[in-house]
Amino acid sequence: MANDLIRNFCIIAHIDHGKSTLADRFLEYTGAITERDFREQLLDNMDLERERGITIKASAVCLNYKADDGQEYILNLIDTPGHVDFTYEVSKSLGACEGVLLLVDAAQGVEAQTVANMYLALEQNLYIIPVINKIDLANARPERTQKQLESIMGADHEDMIMASAKTGIGTKEILETIVRQVPPPGGDVNNPLQALVFDSNFDTYRGIVVYVRVFNGEIRPGLQVKMMATGHSYEVQETGVFRPKPEKTKKLSSGQVGFIICNIKDAADITIGDTVTESSCPAKEALPGYKKMQPMVFCGIYPVNAGDFSRLREAIDKLKLNDSSFVAEQESSASFNFGFRCGFLGLLHMEIAQERLEREYDLNLIVTTPSVVYRVTTTKNKVIEVDNPIKLPEPTNIKSIEEPYIKCFIITPAQALGNVMQLTQERRGIYISTEYLDEERVQLTYTMPLAEAIIDFYDKIKSITRGYGSMDYEIIGYEPTQLVKLDILINNEVCDALSFLVHRDKAENKGRSMVEKLKELIPRQLFQVAIQAAIGGKVIARETVRAMGKNVTSKCYGGDITRKRKLREKQKAGKKRMKQFGKVEIPQEAFMAAIKTN
Ligand code: GTP
Repeated sequence: MANDLIRNFCIIAHIDHGKSTLADRFLEYTGAITERDFREQLLDNMDLERERGITIKASAVCLNYKADDGQEYILNLIDTPGHVDFTYEVSKSLGACEGVLLLVDAAQGVEAQTVANMYLALEQNLYIIPVINKIDLANARPERTQKQLESIMGADHEDMIMASAKTGIGTKEILETIVRQVPPPGGDVNNPLQALVFDSNFDTYRGIVVYVRVFNGEIRPGLQVKMMATGHSYEVQETGVFRPKPEKTKKLSSGQVGFIICNIKDAADITIGDTVTESSCPAKEALPGYKKMQPMVFCGIYPVNAGDFSRLREAIDKLKLNDSSFVAEQESSASFNFGFRCGFLGLLHMEIAQERLEREYDLNLIVTTPSVVYRVTTTKNKVIEVDNPIKLPEPTNIKSIEEPYIKCFIITPAQALGNVMQLTQERRGIYISTEYLDEERVQLTYTMPLAEAIIDFYDKIKSITRGYGSMDYEIIGYEPTQLVKLDILINNEVCDALSFLVHRDKAENKGRSMVEKLKELIPRQLFQVAIQAAIGGKVIARETVRAMGKNVTSKCYGGDITRKRKLREKQKAGKKRMKQFGKVEIPQEAFMAAIKTN
């Protein structure tokens, strides 16, 4: 097949602007799926994605499209996630494409990830087709959205396509525009093989499935290939494409997107962004690949039953393969024995990883209080990275501490401006600028500590703007800070998994609200439980959980047996996500109390 008849593109947008729904329309329109197979948001095939209604992983699908010019084209569509935590997934997909559809919800208008994703596409020199979606909605304001798009990207009215992914308006026009405007892939099938690994997945029966975009040469079963970054060699066993079900092909040639299976068993052998080449005739150089994303939020993950540790290790290895921006290292905590210190791009990423580990690998886990990475210079001028409060040196050995700062872009309706500014200032934000996208929508730019932004900041912005605000951020570096370690003592013993680092000015308030919250969260036990907050050994707050009798049904006088049974069931279920600290049972929510009490 000539490259002229191939188009590789992806859809980028802010969260919930309708990417997956539009992808469904393409699948339907091109006949890739029949009505019988149809489920909404077909590309979101992880259970978790369907339940939460968000895309977490990018998926790639190959469509045949007969265009108005009479030619049959192959369109490779890559669906991408929209949440700020998953920017890395977006840039991976962009690397495999020549064009993008920039989708904007006509009722919401331009939002923070619309702008951020557009810049990612511009950086990679991709052709951008702006599409205004959801024009069927009663509150849609397509003209206003057009103006906002013009102000951020300078596109003309005529270039923007009006669409409704729900009703199918505009689907054909978008497909025709892709065929006409997106450049066909370059590369040459006669050059040495260069294929970009842009994703991978673990299949229980077939081992590791590697997603590739071939830039030069071709790849076919039987070929000996080498991964240029790791140096490992394999024999290709199968090549194929997703339509959207996996379908074997004889080969994948330059310009094509698909998968290869090479009997790779170990997750650690695959690096996303690596280049596959032919062993006997290797390419001179590797493709540019991806900038490695630095995890920004760290927490401990421990099995509730210590016996599950080796299963947790296996699950973490597999998750790493499917999620290259997740890192994990074994650690041990004085309170909880063996577990892992794990790093994530943000809090949503952390929650999703925990849920995936629990569901896909049937584990029961406790996740400890998340923290950013602080940089500490000791009095001996040694610089150490502290991603865990227990690693903070004694105060007398600390010369200075720095914390990560971000540049934060917030897009909000003008009437919520005052409240958003107040929230940002409470979070130690430093004002930089205000820009009006039109008379109703404003972009604010601030710098602020990352630690303040990862803690329910996004949710707060959403709630004070009634869902119409959004934010995006980029890391800008480290700034000096004044930190202290806040310890939590349970019955006079420090529970290291509950300790966290906090700005000195906020420490006392934080300590007080933390023990109050813990009093609500720690269930009454057979004995009294004292909860204390301490800074540098000095107790600053104390609360007590009173003792109770173990038989919870004793208060159910009379009544029928099912009532008692229900109560016992409830008590049993509540126990599931508890971790034993000494004699006290601590529920999962307690570890998140530190970030929920601001
Ligand atoms: P993420 O994958 O989480 O980034 O979201 P997404 O951009 O893929 O959005 P998705 O396709 O999941 O759509 C979000 C919601 O908008 C769903 O409830 C869709 O049914 C709805 N939706 C999408 N397109 C349209 C449209 O054109 N009109 C209307 N009325 N609703 C739409």
